[in-house]
Parts: sequence; structure tokens; C-alpha cells
Amino acid sequence: MLLYESLATQLRAQINAGALAPGERLPSIRRLAQAHAVSPATAVQACLQLEREGLAVARPRSGYFVRSQVTPLPQPPALRRRAPGPVRNRELYEFLDIFARRDLLPLHAAVPAPALLPEHAMAAALARSLRRDRSQALSYAPPQGHAPLRQLIAQRYAQLATTVTPDEVVITAGAIEAINLALRVVTQPGDVVVVEMPTYHGILQAVEALRLQVLELPRCATGGTHLDRLEQMLQQHPVRAAVLVPNFHNPLGSVMSDADKQRLLATCAQHGTVVIEDDIYGDLAWSGQRPSPLRQWDHHGSVITCSSFSKTLAPGLRVGWLLGGEWTDALVRAKYCSTVGNPALPQLALADYLQRHDQERHLRRLRRALADNAQRMRAAIERDWPEGTCVNDPLGGLSLWLQLPPGGDGTALFQAALAAGIGIAPGQAFCSRGGYRDHLRLSCGLPWDASVKQAMRRLGALATAQAL
Ligand SMILES: Cc1ncc(COP(=O)(O)O)c(C=O)c1O
Repeated sequence: MLLYESLATQLRAQINAGALAPGERLPSIRRLAQAHAVSPATAVQACLQLEREGLAVARPRSGYFVRSQVTPLPQPPALRRRAPGPVRNRELYEFLDIFARRDLLPLHAAVPAPALLPEHAMAAALARSLRRDRSQALSYAPPQGHAPLRQLIAQRYAQLATTVTPDEVVITAGAIEAINLALRVVTQPGDVVVVEMPTYHGILQAVEALRLQVLELPRCATGGTHLDRLEQMLQQHPVRAAVLVPNFHNPLGSVMSDADKQRLLATCAQHGTVVIEDDIYGDLAWSGQRPSPLRQWDHHGSVITCSSFSKTLAPGLRVGWLLGGEWTDALVRAKYCSTVGNPALPQLALADYLQRHDQERHLRRLRRALADNAQRMRAAIERDWPEGTCVNDPLGGLSLWLQLPPGGDGTALFQAALAAGIGIAPGQAFCSRGGYRDHLRLSCGLPWDASVKQAMRRLGALATAQAL
């Protein structure tokens, strides 16, 4: 047996015996090498071997961790071939009431906790911007948005090998307004649009408010999208737009492959379907390998990209953006009609912040923290939740998507969790006509601490009580 195999065997035995628990960090390469009198290269080989076996997971700059072994999510339910229809989902609105509550442990909100965001630097940028030019800060901003901020956003896309000009960036009140404006500009009431199943509830609300008809395109937690089904849909129905979250999907956490992105765009371009891309989680790849925005592959001008700073810098500033392409003028008019323009001060402050701070450095820290939280939460699910609970294994974003064992009820668990002072998101909120009743979404945006640990244990006990 080679030296690294022998070391891997010892570590494997410790993991299997529970001496190294799921979520726990393996000793550093240096310590492993010293303790077992091998070279660091041999220690690395041993860890790589455990990674190949699915027993350990590497996290950039943090080392190797024991991988949680919770059952992965099964394939999505069989495709439902339905005619287009309106969004009809009462549970969605019952769930949304939760966002007014401040008394809950917020595992329902897919957002990083304030402690993970640069609050001090942002507060300083706000104060500086107000001091520097009070009149500009308190006046109407241009409807399209503050020019230096639009420039900074375009520059960021240049780093992603995606050509964007500041002229087509439109600043919006978060990604949610971006999605609403894009839909308003490209559709008429009664038009058919494709949304993913499951999908972010804000997309369902926008579609409902604009009285659009939906077709649901199944999406898998493991990454796949049913592109054959999409082709059929576009052949059978006049689909005006498709609203998609290609990168670190909410709630699935999955990423569409570059090949799928290209095929999807070719199909939509062929049928004259506009693609509204929601790329709000693209920067939250835990490995640091940012997946491409759809926009990168858009050779036909059929994509409108929506995103925001809500998941990376400051959700309360309500600053998002659109990349409008040929729809830019229409989008600016729609923006004017909606709010005249975004408030000036948050835009000035964000431009100031981005000019002064190394955004990559902040993102690196944020991604590491989210990966760590997710790993610990998955380990807690394995330990404390009923046998047969399945959970996704995302590589980025903020969502853990769970399926309860047979008989489990995510909506009942949502109610029971509320009574226990914990917010969770029931699966039913992520589908245009209900469904996913045995699913739920947890945010991994809260740093792992005693209160999160206790909440995960309490949720596990409530889920277990359901299973009895
Ligand atoms: C996929 C997705 N799009 C859009 C939004 C809304 O983002 P914003 O707060 O920037 O409006 C969210 C928020 O959770 C989301 O998950």
C-alpha cells in the first residue's frame, strides 16, 4: 500500500467511526504530515483520495472537511404536461407575511446575515456621499441611474469576459424590480411565459401581477434543465419570454452548464422568445469559479439580464440593475413610470464603496462563510432530522432545498416552526400552482452559532414528530 493510501485508510476509519464528524475540519496538511511522518504532498494525496470517494470536501483557503452524507435529492417529479395557465397559489401570500416579522430566527430569507456584509464600510460610504454632495444625494437621480455606478457595473462584466456598455445598464430597485420591468416591457397581459419549476416566488408574483399565463419548465437540483421539453413548449405555444435563474438557482442551488446555456439561447432565439436571466447569485460560487452569465453566450440579442447587490453587499439599499440590450430605451421609460428613478444616495454610496474597496476580497470571505454554514447545516440535517430527509448539495448561492421523508408536510412544518420562533420557507411557495408540499427551503446566510444549531435541532425534532 502506498503511503498516501495508508494515511487515507486511517482517516477513512476515523470518519466512519464518527471520530471525525460530518462538517468537521480535517487536520491541516502540515499537521497531518507531521503527525503521520509523511511529506505534505503525501498528505495532500490522501485528502484528494477522500475527496474522490465523496468523504471529504475541499474549501478554498480553509482546508478539507468531512463531507455530510445526507441523502441527495431524487430526480424531480414526472413532467406535468399542462396547458398555459395563471399563477394560482394562495400559500405563496401566506408565506410572504413572514417578511414583516422581526421576531424570528430568519432561516426563511435567502440573504447573508448583516455580520457577513460590509456594514461599516457601506455606512461610511453613505455618510461620505451625503457630505460630499448633499444636493445631488437628495435630488432625483437620472431615471437610468447614476452614470459612474452604471460604468462600474459594466466594468465588472468585462472581468467576466462579457461585453456590456454602461449605456445599456438601467439601475432598478433590486433584482425584483428589474424582473418586473423586463416582463412589463416584453409582454402583454395574457401572453405565455415559461418559468422554472420550482422557482423563486418573486418571479411567480411578477407573472401573476402582469396577468401572464405560465408554462412550467422542470429544473433538477443536480443541474439539468429539460431542454427537450422547452423545445416542445416553444413549438406548441407562442412563448413570449422565459424567466430563468441559470446560476445557483433559488431554491435548487443548481447551475446550468455552458452547453445547456448555449442550447437554450439558440432554441429561444429560433422561436423569438426573450430570455429574462436572473443572475443574482452568480457571484456566490463557493469555489470562487464564477459560472458564466447567459448574457455571455447571447449572440442574437435575446437576453435581458437582471441582478442586484442584495445578496453580496446591502439588500436594504435596494439597488439592482438590468442589462437591457435593444430594450434599454423601453426599460428606462418603464423605470421612469415606475419610480422616476432609484434614490440617489444609495447609488452614490455604492459607487463610492466599489471604487474604494476590493470587492473580490469581500466576496471571497462571504463565499467561504456561506460554504461553511451550508456544510454545517447539512451535517445538522444528517444528525438531527428524520431518516429519509433529502437535501441538495449546492456549490454556491444561499439555498438548501430539502425533501421530507414520505408523509412529511413542509407547510405544516412552516407553521410549527413559526410557533417555535423560527422562519423557514415552505416548498409550496416555489411553484405556480402549489406542489412541493413535502419540500422546504432553508437559507444558509446565517453564521453557524448556538442559536442556529439549536434551531436546526428543533426543526429536526418537529420534522421527526411529523414522521411518527
Ligand atoms: C432568484 C432571486 N431573484 C431576485 C430576488 C430579489 O432580489 P432583490 O432583493 O435584489 O430585489 C431574489 C431574492 O431572494 C432571488 O432569490
